[in-house]
Amino acid sequence: MLAHPGLAARVAAASILCDIVQGGHTLDERFLSDAAPSRLAGLDPRDRGLARSIVTVALRRLGTIRLALSQLVEKGLPRNCGMLEWNLIAAAAQILFLDTPDHAAVDLAVRATRLEPKNAGFANLVNGVLRNLIRRRDEFLSQSDPLDDDIPHWLAARWRRIYGEDAAHAIASAFGDEPTLDLTVKADAAAWAERLGGRLLPTGSIRLESHAPIPELPGYEEGEWWVQDTAAALPARILDAKPGHRVADLCAAPGGKTAQLAAAGARVTALDKSAERLKALSANLARLKLEAAISVGDAASFKAEPFEAILVDAPCSATGTARRSPDVLWTKKPGDIAALAAIQTKILDRAFSLLKPGGVLVYCVCSLEPEEGEAQIAALLRRNPDAVRDPIDPAAYGLPAEAANAEGELRLLPNLLPHEDSRQRGLDGFFIARLGRLR
Ligand SMILES: C[S@@+](CC[C@H](N)C(=O)[O-])C[C@H]1O[C@@H](n2cnc3c(N)ncnc32)[C@H](O)[C@@H]1O
Repeated sequence: MLAHPGLAARVAAASILCDIVQGGHTLDERFLSDAAPSRLAGLDPRDRGLARSIVTVALRRLGTIRLALSQLVEKGLPRNCGMLEWNLIAAAAQILFLDTPDHAAVDLAVRATRLEPKNAGFANLVNGVLRNLIRRRDEFLSQSDPLDDDIPHWLAARWRRIYGEDAAHAIASAFGDEPTLDLTVKADAAAWAERLGGRLLPTGSIRLESHAPIPELPGYEEGEWWVQDTAAALPARILDAKPGHRVADLCAAPGGKTAQLAAAGARVTALDKSAERLKALSANLARLKLEAAISVGDAASFKAEPFEAILVDAPCSATGTARRSPDVLWTKKPGDIAALAAIQTKILDRAFSLLKPGGVLVYCVCSLEPEEGEAQIAALLRRNPDAVRDPIDPAAYGLPAEAANAEGELRLLPNLLPHEDSRQRGLDGFFIARLGRLR
């Protein structure tokens, strides 16, 4: 029955949405070829791509979709309704936000509903609800507020408190955009930008215009560049490791920053707690023809001779990455922030103890939460009289003055780097601080 064109992609999308929002799985993990259980078995690359588009936009606009459906399903859905709700959400995502023809979105949702024996009787309801959604589409879209509707309430309240009403809205709007890809090149960024038909950003990354499959782009096979959000490329630039320097990358996998440090000629020790993720790091370095000493271990208890430079890209809530990974908004819970902050403190303490006097340490997180950023650095400075901030000049990295706070730390909000084309603007939310060691 799944043989009907496009049906398998819709069924997969609905199941994966449920896995993420109810089961806490991540978007990337659900689309790995060895994901278990696999929702993608038998799907060709086109259908996999379609399933991913549906899931991604449904997660990005989940609140708006649920609000619209709640107004259309007046009596609410039955309890324990299996995949019924997720089929409706996947179909609504197509109707409201994708180019799918309306009749296909409705027909395939009805067919998907009939596949589940206990829900087969709701096929007419699905048909009626989705037809009403099509009729009232403009009304629902014009009423949608990115902060109030598409950001979980606990995060929206946090960002309002921390950044204020306007900035919180700008953050939420940026998370509604679908970005193109950024690349980091080993060298000759301007020439590669031209060759790849991309734009050289003031931050030094190339922002692609097209969406060709990555391995088919010039320079991929030769290992001339790698995919890395432009914000994620800044910490290694700011560390500015010199050729021959002994540098530690303490939370290294999958290795975007290790590659930058190795490409700069540093002798890099790449440590990560996850052996699995280090396999990806090894494979990435092999393609790029770059080298690092790879080590599996806990950065909070890592032992080594002191380093001249250290990069700490700590595990974090990743709330800054919701443009590319909207699942973070729905899989993170309020308690995660304090738990991650405790780990970050331990890693940062250990990292500072491994820094040579006169050395430089860059600490970063792709989180918007101050407990994981500003507060970590302030507390480290209180605990260590030998630690000093080394202020970062945003202009030196192509960033506007407002990217830095009064302490000279970068607080990158995802709505930075404006552009009239929504796919071309923004960057991952990051916090980046640079420290020195006096003695
Ligand atoms: C933000 S990711 C690093 C991304 C990486 N720096 C890059 O640019 O590709 C954080 C990493 O920290 C690792 N990690 C988590 N806890 C750790 C610990 N206690 N010690 C070392 N690594 C840890 C995770 O496995 C994960 O790979």
